[in-house]
Amino acid sequence: MHGIARQNLAPIRPKAPDARGEKGLQLNEQTLSMRLERVAAHVPAGARLADIGSDHGYLPVALMRRGAIAAAVAGEVALTPFRAAERTVRENDLDLQITVRLANGLAAIMPGDGITAISICGMGGETIRDILDSGKARLSGQERLVLQPNGGEQPLRQWLMDNGYRILCEEVLRENRFDYEIIVAERAGPVMYTAEELYFGPLQMQARSPAFLVKWQRKLRQKQQTLAHFAQARQAVPEEKVQDIARQARWITELLA
Ligand SMILES: C[S@@+](CC[C@H](N)C(=O)[O-])C[C@H]1O[C@@H](n2cnc3c(N)ncnc32)[C@H](O)[C@@H]1O
Repeated sequence: MHGIARQNLAPIRPKAPDARGEKGLQLNEQTLSMRLERVAAHVPAGARLADIGSDHGYLPVALMRRGAIAAAVAGEVALTPFRAAERTVRENDLDLQITVRLANGLAAIMPGDGITAISICGMGGETIRDILDSGKARLSGQERLVLQPNGGEQPLRQWLMDNGYRILCEEVLRENRFDYEIIVAERAGPVMYTAEELYFGPLQMQARSPAFLVKWQRKLRQKQQTLAHFAQARQAVPEEKVQDIARQARWITELLA
């Protein structure tokens, strides 16, 4: 899909977005960020969870501590967060229930794990899409996907549609001055979304929550500023790019009308 680069850019955010929560609370496996709390709410009770890109392992450890899931795999591609996840699991005496694996994407999932839910959170939507796409062979099709992209929602929804996943639930939430989206999906056979539904989220378009509307009001201002900059630019901006941003601004204007 053309001209979606700006929308796909992950928002610039502090180095450790979850180190402290909205009210300055220290965030860890006992006190999750509001973002991870909402992700946690979409993990089915008693699930066998694979948390891919787990970082400190806060999500699976918090869910296990609460007795909300049966078992988990925490997958990490990078050594430092992998060791952090191992430490969190060890310090909570959960080594028997949570397996931490150093692995790229869904390679963390082994056939015998019996995974029933997969969370992939805190990454760009395109990264999440690529993790799902290159790990397709590891998906049984029975797992619930709980995805929390930081931008790039449109190409992620496109992948879900192309692979027969129906979006069951969507949320927009704002924390620490960033808008976050959560997309919950399950494989359900052929599903068709319009271009606007892929852009805004099919269920969010229906629900029109206050957080969703405020997010798109903000986005519209950004698009309008971008178009104004283009108009003043000394060097010509490719027409295709201008038309793409103009189309997005038109869609948002129609949504908010
Ligand atoms: C910003 S952190 C998010 C951590 C946690 N999921 C959350 O939402 O708070 C992203 C993590 O994903 C990991 N990651 C990125 N690409 C990955 C991949 N292909 N496979 C496994 N982990 C990955 C990074 O190493 C990093 O620790």
